Amino acid sequence: MEGTRLFAACVGLMLSCTYANYGSWMNLGMQGLDVWRNPQIYVVGTSPLCGRIPGLSPGQRKLCQLRQDHMSSVGRGARAGIAECQHQFRHSRWNCSTVDDSSVFGPVLQIPSREAAFAHSIAAAGVVMSVARSCRDGQLASCGCSQAARPDHLDDEWVWGGCGDNIHYGYRFAKGFVDVREKEKKHKRGSVKFARSRMNIHNNEAGRRSVIALTKLNCKCHGVSGSCSAVTCWQRLPAFREVGDLLKDKYDGATEVTVTRRGRLRVTDRRYRRPTPEDLVYIQESPDYCRKNSTLGSSGTTGRTCDRTSQGTDGCGLLCCGRGYNTQHVTVAERCSCKFIWCCKVQCKTCRRERTIHTCK
Ligand SMILES: *[C@@H]1O[C@H](CO)[C@@H](O)[C@H](O)[C@H]1NC(C)=O
Ligand SMILES: *[C@@H]1O[C@H](CO)[C@@H](O)[C@H](O)[C@H]1NC(C)=O
Repeated sequence: MEGTRLFAACVGLMLSCTYANYGSWMNLGMQGLDVWRNPQIYVVGTSPLCGRIPGLSPGQRKLCQLRQDHMSSVGRGARAGIAECQHQFRHSRWNCSTVDDSSVFGPVLQIPSREAAFAHSIAAAGVVMSVARSCRDGQLASCGCSQAARPDHLDDEWVWGGCGDNIHYGYRFAKGFVDVREKEKKHKRGSVKFARSRMNIHNNEAGRRSVIALTKLNCKCHGVSGSCSAVTCWQRLPAFREVGDLLKDKYDGATEVTVTRRGRLRVTDRRYRRPTPEDLVYIQESPDYCRKNSTLGSSGTTGRTCDRTSQGTDGCGLLCCGRGYNTQHVTVAERCSCKFIWCCKVQCKTCRRERTIHTCK
């Protein structure tokens, strides 16, 4: 029944079929999150919710059914990953913009590029973070506060306890959920899809490990009037911005690899060192993302705001790919001449200021 309907949809709309091929689990981050808060409302007939979210692979649907209470965390993790990606790439030609279908980023990330490496790693990191936090907050049935062992370097007098973020659980769940789709289909060794799966698995792991590498220790004083006679410490997640910054560095230093028939990664240029599990890898050089190309899924840089004086990726030279830029004078309203009025408010005037904006041709 399901198969027949899918077939009919494919014949009627070739496009949606090719799109269905590369639907992404990150689509969970694009769906309204309330869906998961109150699932019974949305279950139509006998079809469970997990079967109705486009982008999940069969294995992910099973995990979704088994751990439905985790799905709102997975969605939040994916959404945070996408937002962080857009922050990190706001000054680049490819700006991590999303499209309105279950592929999330459109056809452009079909290319096994550095950008695809980054997107996979940051989304996997997002899931580790949000699941680890949900465990701590008691939102999930199968996990609670961190059970991590006491670190060796902790002062003997300090208590290891409190309720830490369960990074170990977040890591394990993210590994199972995110990687399963790369393992369930047996691609022919040496094929493009086989290589891409190995690349994704490597970059997902690099993303998850970045969270572990940045995990913090939080300590708190107790005692009468701040005497700090007792200290309790626990494990805490890093800020997601730190994870984004680290993975952006890994992106800048990503290694081009080929995948052997046995599934090993081999450095393309032997002068470079072998990538560690913490590094990002890619198989193909990126397109230049300069012009709009709908086959490729590149939106081009025409109309992007650039900085006339910058020599970096946000500068008009690089961002506009040498096409030049338009200059516009606009008037913006700003708060100015603010005064503190006793007590307690701030009163400002509105000033109009001329601003010059440059946009790529
Ligand atoms: C990315 O750039 C395109 C123009 O090339 C713009 O339409 C889009 O809003 C930008 N997306 C983000 C997330 O900044
Ligand atoms: C879009 O990109 C593809 C793949 O790189 C290329 O073959 C094609 O010529 C491009 N189309 C346009 C209109 O530039």
